[in-house]
Amino acid sequence: MTIDSQLIFISNKLTANQLVVVDEFIPLTEVSKFKRYFINLQKQNKIKTAGIGKANQYVQNIAIRGDSIAWLSSDETRAISTLFFEKFEQLIQHLNRRFYLGINTYEAHLACYPIGSFYQKHLDVFKTNSDRKVTFILYLNENWKKGDGGELRIRASSTQQIEPLAGRLVLFYSDAIEHEVLITHQPRYSLTGWFKSSINTLIDK
Ligand code: OGA
Ligand code: NI
Repeated sequence: MTIDSQLIFISNKLTANQLVVVDEFIPLTEVSKFKRYFINLQKQNKIKTAGIGKANQYVQNIAIRGDSIAWLSSDETRAISTLFFEKFEQLIQHLNRRFYLGINTYEAHLACYPIGSFYQKHLDVFKTNSDRKVTFILYLNENWKKGDGGELRIRASSTQQIEPLAGRLVLFYSDAIEHEVLITHQPRYSLTGWFKSSINTLIDK
C-alpha cells in the first residue's frame, strides 16, 4: 500500500467506526528500535509507574492500571525512528485536512505492562481537559502468540479484542471509545499517545 492509500484507508475507517486497526504501519526493524530504547530506559531506572487523572487528581493504583511508562517528546520519537515520525506528521496533516480536527501537537509514552497487569475499562479524556482528540497505540510485541494475553478490548457497537502485535497501529477517537487492556501473561510493550488540539501548546513548551 502506498502512503496515500494507507492514509485514506485510515481516515475512512476512523470516520466509519471511530476506530481503525492498521497492520505493518512501520517495518519491524523500526518497531524494534522503540522497544530497545525502552529497555535501555528500564536499565537506567527511568521508567515510572503510570497513574490516572491529572494534576491534583493524579493517583497511582495498580488495581486499575498496572503499566510503567516513559513520556517521549516529539524530538525523541524523531531520534528513535525518523520514518515513524515522518509518517506520523503526514497522518496528522491528513486528518486535519479531512476532518478539520485542529491537531497541533501530540503526546506519547512508551509503556510496559508487566506479567499479571492490565488497565481497566476507561475513556482517555480527562473530565477537566478535552485536548485529546485521537488515541494512537503502536504495539511492539514481536513474538506475541495466542494465550499471551494483553489484548485491547474495545466496547463500541460490538465488542472486539485486538492482539498487541508488533507493527500494528490502532487509532480511535479518544472521547468516544471505551477500552481496556486485558491481563497480560508476558511483558507487553507499546507506544501510546494522543493527537491533541491544544490552545496551550506554545505555553506548554
Ligand atoms: C492507555 C491505553 C491501551 C493499550 O494507555 O490509555 O488504554 O492497548 N492503552 O495499550
Ligand atoms: Ni486508554
